[in-house]
Amino acid sequence: MDLGLKGKRAIVCASSKGLGRACATSLAREGCEVVINGRDATSLTATAKAIEAETGARVIPVVADVGTEAGRAALLAACPSPDILVNNNGGPPARDFRDISHADMIAGVEANMLTPIALIRAVIDGMAARGFGRIINITSSSVRAPIPNLDLSSGARAGLTAFVAGVARQVAGKNVTINSIQPGAFGTDRLKSIARAAAQKTGKSVEEVDAARMAMIPAGRFGDPGEFGELCAYLASAQAAYITGQNILIDGGSFPGAF
Ligand SMILES: NC(=O)c1ccc[n+]([C@@H]2O[C@H](COP(=O)([O-])OP(=O)(O)OC[C@H]3O[C@@H](n4cnc5c(N)ncnc54)[C@H](OP(=O)(O)O)[C@@H]3O)[C@@H](O)[C@H]2O)c1
Repeated sequence: MDLGLKGKRAIVCASSKGLGRACATSLAREGCEVVINGRDATSLTATAKAIEAETGARVIPVVADVGTEAGRAALLAACPSPDILVNNNGGPPARDFRDISHADMIAGVEANMLTPIALIRAVIDGMAARGFGRIINITSSSVRAPIPNLDLSSGARAGLTAFVAGVARQVAGKNVTINSIQPGAFGTDRLKSIARAAAQKTGKSVEEVDAARMAMIPAGRFGDPGEFGELCAYLASAQAAYITGQNILIDGGSFPGAF
């Protein structure tokens, strides 16, 4: 299927690794020019080269902390009129809710709710004026069903989800869509660091922690980031114009609800 993305410009935040990188790669493969981002220059540059080599697309690396105003300005300077915005950021560390300070709370809300909203506000009117826009927020399956010790992550992302539900309906008539993808467990560095923390706490090996988690997933495995990236590219496509305000779970069947 031709997704109608050739020549489109995309900003993919927090994309030197993991799910963001997978989204950038899938969009580049579909012919988008992609701005990628991360704080570590070395890994970001290596990722830009790897995506360019694999896809032949133009990839522009922007070293910046997306959680800062200066970082967001740098992303927008590299791509002032994006057709596609993929909002992503690091997630708060796993922690008992009793141990989260007020400052930690503010930082979590800033990173996973206010940062994506700031970028949406910066790009949405231009998208509406041009008659095409696709905004995809990477949130978490924990918005739908809690994961122990990720309460701040769940709460901040639920706030984002509710906020954009109304915004999505305001721009739907201009061919601008806003959707979120809710990942379950994907094999990325983030998952590895959560597994390492659980192993330390329980005295088990990381392999045992991973095996126990996989055993609870009906698919029997962690997701491949490439599967996530392809879903992102579809939501960015011309064909997905009638999907908006939705929160799409990709979790190997983990969420047990019929709806
Ligand atoms: N993997 C999963 O199973 C899973 C499940 C549910 C939700 N999620 C959520 O999905 C998001 C992506 O997760 P992931 O697994 O792909 O993580 P990851 O493998 O750890 O990759 C995170 C990426 O974000 C970049 N990054 C982090 N903080 C940044 C910042 N302030 N500014 C710019 N770039 C930043 C990192 O690069 P630098 O460190 O160099 O900045 C890296 O490229 C996270 O919010 C995570 O909580 C993941």
